[in-house]
Amino acid sequence: MKGVIFGPPGAGKGTQGVFISNYFSIPLISTGQIIRDAIKNDSPALKGLKDMIAKGALVPDHAIIDIAIDRISKNDCDSGYLLDGFPRTIDQAKALALLNIRLDFVLSIEVDSEEIVRRISGRLYHPSSGRTYHKTDCPPLKEGIDDVTGEPLITRDDDQPASIKKRLSVYTEQTEPVLSFYKNDITYRPQFLQVNGMGSIDLVKNRIQKLLGTHFSSRL
Ligand code: AP5
Repeated sequence: MKGVIFGPPGAGKGTQGVFISNYFSIPLISTGQIIRDAIKNDSPALKGLKDMIAKGALVPDHAIIDIAIDRISKNDCDSGYLLDGFPRTIDQAKALALLNIRLDFVLSIEVDSEEIVRRISGRLYHPSSGRTYHKTDCPPLKEGIDDVTGEPLITRDDDQPASIKKRLSVYTEQTEPVLSFYKNDITYRPQFLQVNGMGSIDLVKNRIQKLLGTHFSSRL
């Protein structure tokens, strides 16, 4: 089972991605998380990208394509994977297609801009695991502290108002066209799924579960 989860920044891709990857027993691959880990570990290859990401710009295609292809070549991806945050340009989608990768589904989470700003502004993040909380909607057990490790939670560098605005415009200009690319993909015809991402985390999860059950129950 190979899928891609789409949605504007803060739509809940990571949050719902954990659920979907468990549902199909496949790894969740977030290129954003891979980059944040690499920057934290001072990876020479990604040196210099920190400012770009903090400002909300995309990492250059050639760099991110190498990272994504390297990750999906690992053994744990033999029976599939869920991509979160890749591909997000037409050239990235074409790079996947060139590898003859057949995607089973493309899931788009639809959330309006006002709610996106509200969600990102309240996000709390645990850097070493990537675990995400929300100040009011999904709070940690103890304020500002990760439930599992007891370590402090932080605000992501790119979760500042100016970066959020930039990320939203990048999504509209560069990533939304990728959805049309898949809608018109007549070679592999991935199942195109759209879900209303407004409402609580559990409500959205239930909608996704219903959709996946309708289309893929025979593959579980
Ligand atoms: P990435 O990490 O992919 O960021 P993003 O796409 O902007 O998405 P987010 O992680 O911000 O949000 P999300 O949709 O996962 O929402 P979440 O579940 O956390 O990429 C970061 C950067 O890396 C990019 O800007 C770019 O620079 C670079 N990059 C990555 N991939 C790249 C690529 N392919 N090409 C080029 N550059 C690339 O939820 C958000 C908040 O809302 C949380 O607090 C959560 O608890 C809360 N929440 C979630 N769902 C709900 C709900 N239903 N109700 C209430 N609160 C909710």
